[in-house]
Amino acid sequence: MKEINVLVTGAAGQIGYALLPRLASGETFGSNVIVNLRLVEIPEVVEKLNGTIMELEDCGFNTLGKVEAFSDIYKAAEEVDWALLVGSIPRGITINGKKIEERGDLLKINGGIFTDQGKAIGSKGKNNAKILVVGNPANTNALIGMTHANNASQTWMAMTALDANRAKAQVSSKINVPISEINQMIIWGNHSPTMYPDLDNALVKNESVSSIIKDEGWIKNDFLETVQQRGKAIIDARGASSAASAANAAIETVKATLTPTKNGDCFSAAILSDGSYDVPEGIIYGFPLRSTKEGKIEIIQGLEINSYAKEKLEITTRELLEEKEAVSELI
Ligand SMILES: NC(=O)c1ccc[n+]([C@@H]2O[C@H](COP(=O)([O-])OP(=O)(O)OC[C@H]3O[C@@H](n4cnc5c(N)ncnc54)[C@H](O)[C@@H]3O)[C@@H](O)[C@H]2O)c1
Repeated sequence: MKEINVLVTGAAGQIGYALLPRLASGETFGSNVIVNLRLVEIPEVVEKLNGTIMELEDCGFNTLGKVEAFSDIYKAAEEVDWALLVGSIPRGITINGKKIEERGDLLKINGGIFTDQGKAIGSKGKNNAKILVVGNPANTNALIGMTHANNASQTWMAMTALDANRAKAQVSSKINVPISEINQMIIWGNHSPTMYPDLDNALVKNESVSSIIKDEGWIKNDFLETVQQRGKAIIDARGASSAASAANAAIETVKATLTPTKNGDCFSAAILSDGSYDVPEGIIYGFPLRSTKEGKIEIIQGLEINSYAKEKLEITTRELLEEKEAVSELI
């Protein structure tokens, strides 16, 4: 059977707990692929990670290969085909007596982590490896990692699929259509409250979702705010950030890259801007993506962006440029 090496950071965290069984079960890479898991945690958490590993063994998956725990990212990154970078330092944590509340501080601390992760994956990971950054601030962490990986054969992405799924769920209940009938749900820009979920280009049976809904007030206010603030609403309700839905979105993103995207649909993730849709080059930006028969990931071109959407794209662009500026010494 074919084997694949998958690195997961933050493996003992809540998303890790929901993610690992689905990576190992055959659901993600197929029932004929052995998945070797290379799990990374900070040294203080390795004991907890051993508990997760015991549970993985006890699942009895036919497709689970070797499972190894690491705290050295350079060892963990050897020969990886995929890296899911989930681990990061959350806002509100106290480091050296200082509570980390400012986005700028958070960017720098996590940026430091992603510098080494990038170097390790770029130099030790396989050529053509794919990397999905989940840990926040995901887009800028991905930019830092990709810069230090310095390996043009590899593809770095930041996760926006959860935002796309949240948007689909809102549309599904608003117009009473199954999720499976909603296509081309694009999340433009940053995985942050400035993201822009685009209902003009989202389709149900080839018709624009915004023209089906015909309720501009709902689209511009209720829908936009619900999707943009959904992460916070879940934290407020659960006392912890989204985990099952985040793990699910990561699995869906990996799967979306493994099968060609059908016409009239896309998958959502943030990748390096090449200047498409007038987005400045050099930032990791949420675009409509397609995976090709050859396994390449491309930005879908030629979609219409109206003046309202353009304003929204500019807001999220500005935020990403500011984030890039805040970590300029790391890239
Ligand atoms: N992109 C998205 O849609 C999305 C959605 C939900 C959560 N998130 C983000 O995902 C991240 C993880 O969320 P969680 O709920 O699993 O958090 P968590 O705190 O439960 O787990 C994070 C884990 O990362 C580990 N970690 C920290 N630094 C590390 C490092 N340098 N190397 C390896 N591991 C390290 C921690 O020890 C911890 O076990 C957070 O940044 C969260 O904001 C992103």
